[in-house]
Amino acid sequence: MTEWVKGEIIRIEKWTDKLFSIIINAPIDPFIAGQFTKLALDVDGQRIQRAYSYVNAPSSQNLEFYIVTVPIGKLSSTLTRVSLGAEIMLTKKSAGFFVLDEVPECETLWMLATGTAIGPYLSILQTGIGLERFKNLVLVHATRFTCDLSYLPLMTRLQEQYNGKLRIQTIVSREITSNALSGRIPTLLQNNHLEAAIGLTIHPDTSHIMLCGNPQMVSCTQKLLQEQRKMRKHFRRKPGHITSENYW
Ligand SMILES: Cc1cc2nc3c(=O)[nH]c(=O)nc-3n(C[C@H](O)[C@H](O)[C@H](O)COP(=O)(O)OP(=O)(O)OC[C@H]3O[C@@H](n4cnc5c(N)ncnc54)[C@H](O)[C@@H]3O)c2cc1C
Ligand SMILES: NC(=O)c1ccc[n+]([C@@H]2O[C@H](COP(=O)([O-])OP(=O)(O)OC[C@H]3O[C@@H](n4cnc5c(N)ncnc54)[C@H](OP(=O)(O)O)[C@@H]3O)[C@@H](O)[C@H]2O)c1
Repeated sequence: MTEWVKGEIIRIEKWTDKLFSIIINAPIDPFIAGQFTKLALDVDGQRIQRAYSYVNAPSSQNLEFYIVTVPIGKLSSTLTRVSLGAEIMLTKKSAGFFVLDEVPECETLWMLATGTAIGPYLSILQTGIGLERFKNLVLVHATRFTCDLSYLPLMTRLQEQYNGKLRIQTIVSREITSNALSGRIPTLLQNNHLEAAIGLTIHPDTSHIMLCGNPQMVSCTQKLLQEQRKMRKHFRRKPGHITSENYW
């Protein structure tokens, strides 16, 4: 049986009219960077629970979740309206295999995200444990608009902290800006623009790709990497080059 704990919302960060982060204080069990918990609220008399990834490192006292309001979404639209001090339920134990322990040895770890799926990578990078074995780290955040790049200041700080080992790149799909690549992840891989901007190439001998977020992005990118780069999905029993997590 799932064990639930009560949390208190101690901070809310409104980034745009659709994007926000909630910071919660709750007595959960220790988790591994990259994992998720379930948040639950009563909506119209019914308990609604959904998975949300931690943004914070496991060592930090407060739990941070980066959330987008999905139109007609039952829980996300309710979470949009929660107030400071409100009570929220969380699963005591976290779950998920989108963690560094599941990533095989490689030279360059590519972490690609759409939208709020930047969260698990920020947790992994803020933790910093288990990253020594990679020569290069690449963090890519793809959003619709520049204003959706809520964690760019943190990404930039992490880039500085990693002292040349971490390269970051933003991509926006619905406006042209000089600060980000334009388009979508699969197209920018197909035309080599992403690798050119980063200054590293993706190759099965040297690279492992983590994909997180929009399921269509995950499947299109996976297909492209399989067909054009001879990369395979990674399994414990059969090591490969691609690890992924779909958000819906
Ligand atoms: C492992 C995991 C981790 C996740 N982590 C996060 C996170 O950190 N932040 C976050 O915002 N979400 C995250 N999600 C998505 C989250 O669990 C919910 O699915 C999302 O908040 C929508 O829930 P809802 O109740 O509002 O919508 P629902 O009522 O469940 O769904 C309404 C409709 O929207 C579709 N939908 C669901 N999510 C999305 C989406 N993001 N974009 C577009 N359409 C969608 C559904 O397929 C459905 O058709 C994660 C999901 C998984 C599986
Ligand atoms: N972000 C917002 O400001 C906003 C505003 C209103 C509503 N919402 C709602 O919130 C939910 C999530 O929105 P989101 O913007 O966080 O996530 P999203 O719709 O998944 O978009 C994030 C990024 O993923 C790209 N993408 C979409 N499909 C792809 C595919 N098949 N292959 C590669 N890339 C793909 C998008 O490109 P494209 O732009 O080309 O699709 C965008 O750059 C949606 O239901 C949306 O309607 C969000």
